[in-house]
Amino acid sequence: MSQRIKIKALLESKETDREVTVKGWVRTFRNNQFIALNDGSTNSNLQVVVDFENTDAALLKRLTTGAAISVVGQLVASLGKGQTVEVKAKEIEILGDCDPEKYPLQPKKHSLEFLREIAHLRFRTNTFGAIFRVRNTLAFAVHQFFQERGFIYLHTPIITASDAEGAGETFHVTNFDLANPPKADNGEVDFKQDFFGRATNLTVSGQLEGELGAMALSDIYTFGPTFRAENSNTTRHLAEFWMIEPEMAFYDLVDNMDLAEALLKYVIGYTLDKNKEDLEFLTQRLTEEEKQKPQQERSEMTLLEKLQFCLENDFQRLTYTEAIDILKESTPNKKKKFQYPIEGWGTDLQSEHERYLVEKHFKKPVILTDYPKAIKAFYMRQNEPDAKGHETVRAMDILFPGIGEIVGGSQREERLEKLEQRMDEMGIPKEELWWYLDTRRFGACPHAGFGLGFERLVLFVTGMGNIRDVIPFPRFPKNAEF
Ligand code: 4AD
Ligand code: MG
Repeated sequence: MSQRIKIKALLESKETDREVTVKGWVRTFRNNQFIALNDGSTNSNLQVVVDFENTDAALLKRLTTGAAISVVGQLVASLGKGQTVEVKAKEIEILGDCDPEKYPLQPKKHSLEFLREIAHLRFRTNTFGAIFRVRNTLAFAVHQFFQERGFIYLHTPIITASDAEGAGETFHVTNFDLANPPKADNGEVDFKQDFFGRATNLTVSGQLEGELGAMALSDIYTFGPTFRAENSNTTRHLAEFWMIEPEMAFYDLVDNMDLAEALLKYVIGYTLDKNKEDLEFLTQRLTEEEKQKPQQERSEMTLLEKLQFCLENDFQRLTYTEAIDILKESTPNKKKKFQYPIEGWGTDLQSEHERYLVEKHFKKPVILTDYPKAIKAFYMRQNEPDAKGHETVRAMDILFPGIGEIVGGSQREERLEKLEQRMDEMGIPKEELWWYLDTRRFGACPHAGFGLGFERLVLFVTGMGNIRDVIPFPRFPKNAEF
C-alpha cells in the first residue's frame, strides 16, 4: 500500500518539495487544471494542479464532482490564494467515477431540508463535515472529562422492562407475530410467551441502572442511545438520541450543578481548541444565515463569541419559584405576548418562558432548581414545603440560549418511605422496581445525577438550528430512512 497522507496533515506540514500520495473525493475541478480535493480529515480542500496538456483527455473528463481519486505528486509551496501548499499531480487514478448527471450533490449551496433527504451523502458537504467532526470531538471530550475525574463508564441496558421517566413514551420490543400474538385466558396479549417472558421496551434513560452502579462505584456515567416515542415534531426532539448520564454517590444538588456546569465548560473549551477551523466555518455559516433575518432577530454574538461567553461566565442559578416571579412581572407576560401566560405557581415552563429567562432576562445560561413536585419524576428528592405550602423537589434543569433545556437532573430521593409513598401517588409499580428500591434498603446514601442530551449539546456548539442536522441519521415521527 502506498504511503497515503491525509489532507489535514499535508496542509499543516511545512516540509514541501517531496512526493506524496493523497486520496479523496473531488469537490470541484476548474479550468481543466485545479482539483479541490477533500478527504474529510479537515474542512479545507487540497489544491491538486493537473498538467492538462500531458494528461489523457478521457481521464480529465472523469474528474467530476464526487469522484474518488488517488493522486501521486509533488508537494510544493502554493502561489495561489487561500492555501500555503498544493500538489502538482504526476499520476492520477480514478478509484470511483461519479456521474455528474446523476449525482445529487452539485458544487453549490443546497438547502438543509434537501440535504436531510440525502443524508447518506450529506457528509460530503462542508457543513456536515464540520458538524460531524465537532460531534466526534465533543464525544471524546465527554469521556475525557469523566475519566480525568475517576468516573466509571457504565453500560446500562438498551432493552429494559421499566420506564425510568414514568412518562409512558416507550417503544415496545417484541418478537411476537404482531398479526397474531398469543393471548392469555383473559384475552390480553400474553407477554409471558414473548422473548423475555415479559413486556419490554427500548430504554428512555439509563439513570435507574446508573444509580445501582453509583451505590458501589461512587461515580459512574453512561453515554448511550435512548429512545422516546413522543410525537414531538420539533427542532429539539428526536425519537432516538444520545444521552450522557452521570450518577454520583454522596453528591447533593449543589455538587450536581457544579459538575454539570464544569462538564459543559470543559467540552466546549476542548472543542474550541481542537476544532478551530470547523467552528470558524460554522460561525461564518451562521452569520450568513442570520443575514436573511430581520435585524432584531439576529443574535448579538457570533457563534464563536457565544461559545467563549459560555466558558467565561458563571451560569445563573435560581429556583423555579424565583423564575416564576420574574416571568410574571416580565413585559411579554404583561403585554400578553406569551402563548402560555404565566398566571400562577405550579405549571411547567414552556420553551418561550425558558428562552425569555436565558436570552432576554439573564442573557446567559441558567440553572433552575426546586421545581414543583407535581411536574417532575418520582425519583427526585422531596423538599420540605415552603412557607406558602408549595411542594417542590430537588430538581435542576440547565437552560441554554437558543436551545432551552440541555440538562435535566436532580438529587435523588434516598429515603425509602418517601420514595415508596411518591411511587404510590404516581402509580409507579413498586414490585417491578424492587431492585431499585433495594438500594434504599441496603446502604442508602444521598446521591445525585443528571442527563445531558448529546444532540442538544452538538446543536449549541455547531450553531445549527435543527436537531435533525446534528445526528447522522435522525429518527423522528414518520421517518427512519437510512
Ligand atoms: O430531562 P430528561 O427527560 O431527564 C432524564 O431522562 C433523566 N433520567 C436524566 C437524569 O437525571 N439522569 O432528559 C435529559 C436530557 C434533556 O435535558 C435533553 O437535553 C435531552 O435529554 N432530551 C432529548 N434530546 C433530544 N430529543 C429528545 N426527545 C429528548 N428528550 C430529552
Ligand atoms: Mg427534562
